[in-house]
Amino acid sequence: MILYLILSVAVTSPAAAMQHEEGTVEEVRQKGQEFSQYADDNEQNCLRCHGRLVYSITDSVSGSSRKELMAEHNFISGNAFYSSVHWSFSCLDCHSEGFKSFPHAIETRFETSWGCLDCHGYDPTYAQYKFEEIDAEYQKSIHYTATEGAFTCWQCHDAHYYKPLARETGSGRENIFKSNEMCLHCHGNPDVMGLVTEKELTMVLPRHEWLPDADRHLAAVRCIDCHTRMTDSVLVAHEVMSADSAVNTCTDCHSQNSILMGTLYKYAARESRDQKGFVNGVIFSNDSYVIGANRSKFISLTGMIIIAMVLVIAGVHTVFRIIIKPVKRYYE
Ligand code: HEC
Ligand code: HEC
Ligand code: HEC
Ligand code: HEC
Ligand code: HEC
Ligand code: HEC
Ligand code: HEC
Repeated sequence: MILYLILSVAVTSPAAAMQHEEGTVEEVRQKGQEFSQYADDNEQNCLRCHGRLVYSITDSVSGSSRKELMAEHNFISGNAFYSSVHWSFSCLDCHSEGFKSFPHAIETRFETSWGCLDCHGYDPTYAQYKFEEIDAEYQKSIHYTATEGAFTCWQCHDAHYYKPLARETGSGRENIFKSNEMCLHCHGNPDVMGLVTEKELTMVLPRHEWLPDADRHLAAVRCIDCHTRMTDSVLVAHEVMSADSAVNTCTDCHSQNSILMGTLYKYAARESRDQKGFVNGVIFSNDSYVIGANRSKFISLTGMIIIAMVLVIAGVHTVFRIIIKPVKRYYE
């Protein structure tokens, strides 16, 4: 429950936007302010308002100005934007010129935005991401089929802060947290949910109480590890299925051939399999101890020693029995 509270606060506060900046601040500043040819334009046109929690407006007739608060959902962190994959863009590459005037005209609200495939589809530069296959999987997902076009890739992938997390942080806690944050942005927030459906939102956490220590489980595995169809063709499976097809068996994860090897742990598995042994390598990098799936060298060694000692004791016992038996018989 505590985790739930932390998450729901995190997804709705500007602090969440700030978090996207962490780690690479230096890189960010360098990239954004030195390399983006649009840094100044973006600041002048848009970020002087959208990049601040308090912005000012001026009345061109009287010349007087006043301060206003930027609504949190319209706040765009400049640093986070410049550390995202689309750092090199001008705001006006994706938004129409109409936004240059304020208040923004009503038509600007109805502009259609580019989809990921419009720019990335069938482009060999991005072949490794398999955009076309992701799109095909997504079109089979419940989000696409049940919402009649209200849903797009942008609903999960923040237009301004997106980074390919699974690639960057493997099965680490950061990936798990941010990946789940994407889902809880809606599934933990009735207001945001209201943008894409008329349906009454059921709180998701209570539906996961069949998991012992549910908070801990939800911090150690991603929502998509249980809710998507497992696939080998793309790095991150995108076919979110209806809840009745979700993973609900403990041994799917808690066993030697845990499904997590094909989902969450597959990023780390690729690198550490050779160095540390398949299962242990990935578990160490993730800080998780998945009962049944892990093989601890220490526990194995202790087990071996115990077995060896039992054999030795049994052996010694047998030897003494053989030596002592005739003596016993002598006294009978
Ligand atoms: C003078 C301050 C100011 C400037 C400059 C400004 N905006 Fe805005 N913008 C706002 C405010 C305030 C809102 C929220 C009120 C509203 O929706 O009109 C807003 C709303 C928006 C929205 C949300 C519309 C929606 O669907 O809810 C978008 C998108 C947007 N601005 C984009 C831009 C872009 C792109 C630029 C730069 C070309 C820009 N804005 C420049 C103040 C500004
Ligand atoms: C790669 C394309 C792209 C770029 C570049 C981009 N935006 Fe956006 N922006 C979008 C999309 C798509 C949406 C609608 C998101 C949605 O539907 O959830 C959006 C939404 C917004 C909103 C509404 C609030 C929100 O987050 O949904 C604001 C404000 C905004 N953009 C401002 C900016 C500013 C300022 C910049 C430049 C620093 C910028 N955008 C650059 C694609 C882009
Ligand atoms: C308007 C065109 C456009 C749209 C829309 C767009 N992208 Fe991009 N994207 C680009 C360009 C151009 C780059 C390269 C940016 C650079 O490094 O200069 C890029 C970079 C990327 C990268 C990093 C590629 C690499 O290996 O360096 C990823 C991942 C990515 N985009 C994912 C997405 C996703 C996911 C969406 C939709 C949610 C999306 N993009 C929407 C144009 C776009
Ligand atoms: C229901 C939420 C959701 C929707 C909708 C969604 N994605 Fe994703 N996507 C994710 C998650 C979660 C990840 C894993 C975290 C990450 O790497 O960013 C991901 C990762 C990715 C990646 C990185 C994969 C890699 O190989 O590194 C790409 C590219 C991508 N999505 C493209 C898309 C495109 C294109 C669409 C729309 C056709 C889309 N996504 C729709 C949730 C979603
Ligand atoms: C933009 C909001 C939004 C985001 C983000 C989102 N979802 Fe959903 N999700 C919905 C809506 C709306 C439905 C309901 C579709 C319907 O049945 O009408 C839904 C349905 C579902 C269902 C099926 C529920 C059922 O009753 O069978 C699952 C499972 C699910 N989402 C998981 C996820 C996961 C996992 C993520 C993150 C990768 C995610 N969602 C991200 C809005 C969202
Ligand atoms: C260990 C696997 C597992 C994980 C991890 C998991 N779920 Fe579920 N989820 C399930 C199962 C199984 C059900 C169906 C429970 C039932 O039928 O009562 C379910 C139910 C749901 C539903 C349907 C709720 C409804 O109203 O019917 C949604 C939405 C959902 N999960 C979203 C999420 C989100 C978001 C996350 C990440 C924060 C997540 N799940 C993490 C297994 C999982
Ligand atoms: C989607 C994969 C998955 C499923 C399904 C799953 N678990 Fe787990 N479980 C994990 C992971 C990963 C951890 C490690 C958590 C950590 O390190 O914090 C874990 C940890 C645990 C722990 C130790 C947590 C603690 O509090 O010490 C127990 C006990 C446990 N699981 C029992 C179960 C039971 C019982 C079920 C079925 C009802 C189940 N798990 C289903 C992945 C899963």
